[in-house]
Amino acid sequence: MALIDLVAGARPNFMKLAPVQRALAGVVGIESRIVHTGQHYDAGMNDVFFSELGIPTPEVHLDVGSGSHGAQTARILERYEAHLLKSRPAAVVVFGDVNSTVACSLAAVKLGVPVVHVEAGLRSFDRTMPEEINRILTDSIADLLLVSEASGVENLRREGVSEDRVRLVGNVMIDTLVTELAHADNGVLARLDVGEGKYGLVTMHRPSNVDDPEVLTRMIDTLFELSEKLPLVFPMHPRTLNAVESAGLDADLAERKSLQCLPPCTYGENLALMKSAKVVLTDSGGIQEETTYLRVPCLTLRENTERPVTTTIGTSRLVGNDPTRIRAAFEEVIRGEWPEGSEVPLWDGRAAERVAEAIAGWLGASDVGL
Ligand code: UD1
Repeated sequence: MALIDLVAGARPNFMKLAPVQRALAGVVGIESRIVHTGQHYDAGMNDVFFSELGIPTPEVHLDVGSGSHGAQTARILERYEAHLLKSRPAAVVVFGDVNSTVACSLAAVKLGVPVVHVEAGLRSFDRTMPEEINRILTDSIADLLLVSEASGVENLRREGVSEDRVRLVGNVMIDTLVTELAHADNGVLARLDVGEGKYGLVTMHRPSNVDDPEVLTRMIDTLFELSEKLPLVFPMHPRTLNAVESAGLDADLAERKSLQCLPPCTYGENLALMKSAKVVLTDSGGIQEETTYLRVPCLTLRENTERPVTTTIGTSRLVGNDPTRIRAAFEEVIRGEWPEGSEVPLWDGRAAERVAEAIAGWLGASDVGL
């Protein structure tokens, strides 16, 4: 029996881990164990997704909590290494691009434990983003690179990664979306008093949009202005809430009825809010992909994206954090002049099956064996 660690730490990891954990449970000869680093710890950022998505309780909890990048990454590295020394798996599967991804990969490879990276190869080519550094480092030390869109394969090829380490498997986050569509919590629209197709959804938490009070104030002012044309709903990440409070914007926000700020949503609420929105404004990576799948117009509040397929054949456009560009794109959506988008190859709800097959095949062919 080959024991495999599945590592999760932050909110976007949980939706990716859920289908992979289920698919691996069906593979004879593989036993998986969930390791939670504790990077995200608030119930609303964490526990709620485990219960909603049916993810088993993690066997291992590293309880690292928040901190500066160096402190958080170092804590994960140290604690995961200690765990590996006590109980060594045959391989480690990491997801996405968060600090937990890179720290656990590094702990594992240093001990000779092979690493599988799910969502490998994505590149924004923007090294000011912590996630870009995490992606580059993780891919350079991972043994098996499982890619969600064709651009990722090209990026890895350009970086000289040998083809036998790379597989294009599709998008496991879309697997979760497909499974959960039937359970979307549509009641949230009535609770927020918004009608189907008659509101916009906003999410924003990137350092580039929220850490500088001047930029944050400009963004909030722009949202106020847009919300007078179309009511906006804004579930707020804790990083953003902290920034809003420190910039002294919270009192003003509480008064504006057209821009409703809420605590982080459950998966089912967020899904309902995305699929019924007229438009989504976001700086999230996952939401760019989910709106493309759902064919909902998406204004991506960034200057670049590591998920270019969402802008070439999907429904997303990069608008940065410039009010003029945001306003112009928003007006186009309101006028109904937005591309409808089309299906992305392999975003079909079956990516986790291909992940499991790839891992089983690779373990079978490697020294680890199955
Ligand atoms: C992390 C990821 C980012 C991802 C995001 C999704 C990295 C480098 N960044 O960013 O790629 O898009 O998760 O949510 O890994 N906090 C809480 N409660 C929590 C978690 C965080 O209050 O449960 C607050 C703390 O003040 C913390 C801050 O949010 O310092 C930032 O958390 P952190 O995990 O460092 O980064 P995120 O901004 O969440």
